[in-house]
Amino acid sequence: MNERLVVTCGRITFQNPVLAASGTFGYGSEFERFFPLASLGGFVTKTLFVEPRDGNPPPRVAETSAGMINSIGLANVGWEAFVAEKVPDLKAIVGAARMLVNIAGNAPDEYRAIAARVEGDRERVGCAGIEVNVSCPNVKEGGTNIGCDLHQFQAAVRGVREETSLPVFVKLSPNVADVVPFAACAIDEGADGVSLINTVYGMQIDIEKRRPVLGTGSGGLSGPAILPIGVYWTHKVRAAFPDLPILGIGGIATWRDALQYLLAGAHAIQVGTAAFVNPLACVEIIAGLERYCSQRDTTIAELSGAAHRGGRLAEAAVWTG
Ligand code: SIN
Repeated sequence: MNERLVVTCGRITFQNPVLAASGTFGYGSEFERFFPLASLGGFVTKTLFVEPRDGNPPPRVAETSAGMINSIGLANVGWEAFVAEKVPDLKAIVGAARMLVNIAGNAPDEYRAIAARVEGDRERVGCAGIEVNVSCPNVKEGGTNIGCDLHQFQAAVRGVREETSLPVFVKLSPNVADVVPFAACAIDEGADGVSLINTVYGMQIDIEKRRPVLGTGSGGLSGPAILPIGVYWTHKVRAAFPDLPILGIGGIATWRDALQYLLAGAHAIQVGTAAFVNPLACVEIIAGLERYCSQRDTTIAELSGAAHRGGRLAEAAVWTG
């Protein structure tokens, strides 16, 4: 373990700041043929509901000029099958990597129900914490309907908090005018931290068929296109809440991208879409951060939020037409 890379994010310590993001890493064992899961700081499971879900009609993914849009619809095996069929394999390979279980429901009371299940099985599963997905743009109930409505958001986070004493990170949607009030609400409801950002609403049109490419029409845009959006909100949320643990996510494909998030205020980062292009993205990012830290004799902990310590920014320009 390289001490320079160790980060503490609220109540969780990661051996390095690189986590594989929910929905891009299956249930943890799928990437084992590329690199050992145990080399990561951590990983976040595919979103789990109490009951299994089939997800949305195909096509579910489409490549875009700088990333992809997806409309998976939170397909998952359900909590019981996860515990019985996935966890045993996972426990054999997880090593020092920390597992966050990502959860969701169709309504605030379903968030409470799945959180209670996680709490009940926490020893058996061996998870370090929970990531609450209130920001999936691809479902009729739940998802961004909850993540963009402060009232429902509050109810969902409160339900989860009341059911578990595990560390709770709330994954925030960028599809709102301002992410900061949602971060504030998560803090008020007792969340340990936030993950930001989830995908951005998007659509791609097939010009021959003259209709949207995805089965559900629209989807969530991810990949390099959204990097500056995620960095912006990370910087803004860290400025508003300097002590709030932040997992930065959105468009990270290289160690330089990861560093932008860390400097903007993230304590650790998640890599998602990049792994579809380069399955080794996570390990290459860890190696790049290691090099950067040792060449400059610094640590990730020292770098986190450093972009806020470089003096006051000039006022943003205002377009006057
Ligand atoms: C999906 O399953 O539709 C994507 C997950 C997400 O964006 O939260």
